[in-house]
Amino acid sequence: MNGPKHKLCTKLSSTYLRKWWITIIIAVLLLIGGVLVACEFSVLINAIVNRMIALRPGSKTFGWWAKPPVEPHISLYVYNVTNADDFLSNGSKAIVDEVGPYVYTETWEKVNIVENDNGTLSYNLRKIYKFREDLSAGPEDDVVIVPNIPMLSATSQSKHAARFLRLAMASIMDILKIKPFVQVSVGQLLWGYEDPLLKLAKDVVPKEQKLPYEEFGLLYGKNGTSSDRVTVFTGTENIKQYGIIDKFNGKTHLPHWTTDNCNRLDGTDGSIFPPHITKDRILEVYDKDLCRLLPLVFEREVDTPNNVPAYRFTPPEWVFADVESHPDNMCYCPAGKPSCSPNGLFNVSLCQYDSPIMLSFPHFYLADDSLRTQVEGISPPMKERHQFYFDVQPTTGTTLRVSARIQINLAVSQVFDIKQVANFPDIIFPILWFEEGIDSLPNEVTDMMRFAENVPPKIRVVLIVSLCTLGLVLLLLSTFCLIRNSHRQSTLHLEGSNYLATAQVDMNKKQNKENPPNGRY
Ligand SMILES: *[C@@H]1O[C@H](CO)[C@@H](O)[C@H](O)[C@H]1NC(C)=O
Ligand SMILES: *[C@@H]1O[C@H](CO)[C@@H](O)[C@H](O)[C@H]1NC(C)=O
Ligand SMILES: *[C@@H]1O[C@H](CO)[C@@H](O)[C@H](O)[C@H]1NC(C)=O
Ligand SMILES: *[C@@H]1O[C@H](CO)[C@@H](O)[C@H](O)[C@H]1NC(C)=O
Ligand SMILES: *[C@@H]1O[C@H](CO)[C@@H](O)[C@H](O)[C@H]1NC(C)=O
Repeated sequence: MNGPKHKLCTKLSSTYLRKWWITIIIAVLLLIGGVLVACEFSVLINAIVNRMIALRPGSKTFGWWAKPPVEPHISLYVYNVTNADDFLSNGSKAIVDEVGPYVYTETWEKVNIVENDNGTLSYNLRKIYKFREDLSAGPEDDVVIVPNIPMLSATSQSKHAARFLRLAMASIMDILKIKPFVQVSVGQLLWGYEDPLLKLAKDVVPKEQKLPYEEFGLLYGKNGTSSDRVTVFTGTENIKQYGIIDKFNGKTHLPHWTTDNCNRLDGTDGSIFPPHITKDRILEVYDKDLCRLLPLVFEREVDTPNNVPAYRFTPPEWVFADVESHPDNMCYCPAGKPSCSPNGLFNVSLCQYDSPIMLSFPHFYLADDSLRTQVEGISPPMKERHQFYFDVQPTTGTTLRVSARIQINLAVSQVFDIKQVANFPDIIFPILWFEEGIDSLPNEVTDMMRFAENVPPKIRVVLIVSLCTLGLVLLLLSTFCLIRNSHRQSTLHLEGSNYLATAQVDMNKKQNKENPPNGRY
């Protein structure tokens, strides 16, 4: 009569027990899940981001890359020479007046896109410039007086030629009435004017040394489709190569500099960079007119329009440093020590048909101040107005805002045999500076970036907190119940043995009653 009751109890307590063990296992699994999310969630998100941004024809990012939904603009500031005659006749310091901005808006499009089967794309860049008088300081036909770049290039180059050549040059320039300064409109200076010297050169110079044009303009031939064929990596095979140039006109290296490293052109065009950018990374941009890879280092965190946080990358201070202060720059000085560029200038003559063109930052920012004071009228450089920078969104590697600011200077050498320029001293003469940039991206693009930037971390925190809380609560609850239960178990067990003991005593009593102990008989 007591047996069944006892069995039911053990059965009850064992399912009860099993239930709590399962609960503990679930709780531990939840906790492990929380830890996994904490450690590995970013790997998953990065994989999603990488897939999303890789340049696959038909995808959104591909469309944005091929035809950027932005309005880049270029603002130019010309150094108008106001005392050209005095400068040439009695050796006064040149006085320049910075005029501008003259603003053009641009549309960029990659055309003739061909998908190669090794994870690269080839294209030509098409840039169309449109003058914006409403944003400019004056019309395109404002007249300015600037150094005659073709002439001064020719005279400076003739410095080491035979004397009779220089004399011949002087008489030709006399006949053609070529002067060291030209009076041209801003539009002509940029887009081209007929230059008598170039026209002559075209007719007399041997074919292989011929300049490609008979017109001269600083942006000559740049309005339209470029003939440069660019091959870039799409990032589908290796995201670390996303946007990186594989070949430029079929070449993987430049021919101009003295080391392979300085001849590299495996940077991006600046619109995208391999994603997941950390502050210690050096970004590299290749631009044909810059004639090299431009390194960019992290400067600070900034906020961009549409509230997308970004990292600001700028060229390091040593980028155009002289070889004394930065010996690594020696590779950019193929002519050897005495003719290396002064601090803050970069000699691009090898990319400019041997014209002595020197690039710097506007107002000689990061250059020796003596360069700026060689002429009168250039205010001291200001970081906010003259710095070159890229603001990139680190997760996706997309450029949100750019201000590519460069100044074009002409390195003139004094040549006494040519009477027209006999009074033109050795000087780095500033011509103009420009700022090519993008102020902001359309909302559609920034929305996606904000999403990629903000949502995954939030999901991660929510997941970690909920998994861990749930796990902990279950674990605590089940442990508590287990302990209570095992306590009850031992009480049950004790009660059971008491009962048995009592039963034993009763039995004995009964037995004693039926068979009284010996001794009575
Ligand atoms: C440039 O300087 C010349 C000579 O001083 C002057 O005639 C001309 O108006 C100036 N151009 C502009 C755009 O200010
Ligand atoms: C050069 O000549 C101009 C007048 O033509 C004069 O104003 C100026 O002071 C002279 N400068 C020097 C350094 O002689
Ligand atoms: C990829 O293919 C293109 C076109 O065939 C070729 O020019 C390029 O060198 C290749 N790049 C690599 C890295 O193999
Ligand atoms: C550039 O070319 C387009 C036509 O292709 C023309 O409409 C535009 O005016 C040109 N821009 C300049 C600055 O010459
Ligand atoms: C610029 O570089 C060229 C080619 O290396 C060299 O011949 C020339 O002297 C350099 N110019 C200056 C001003 O340093």
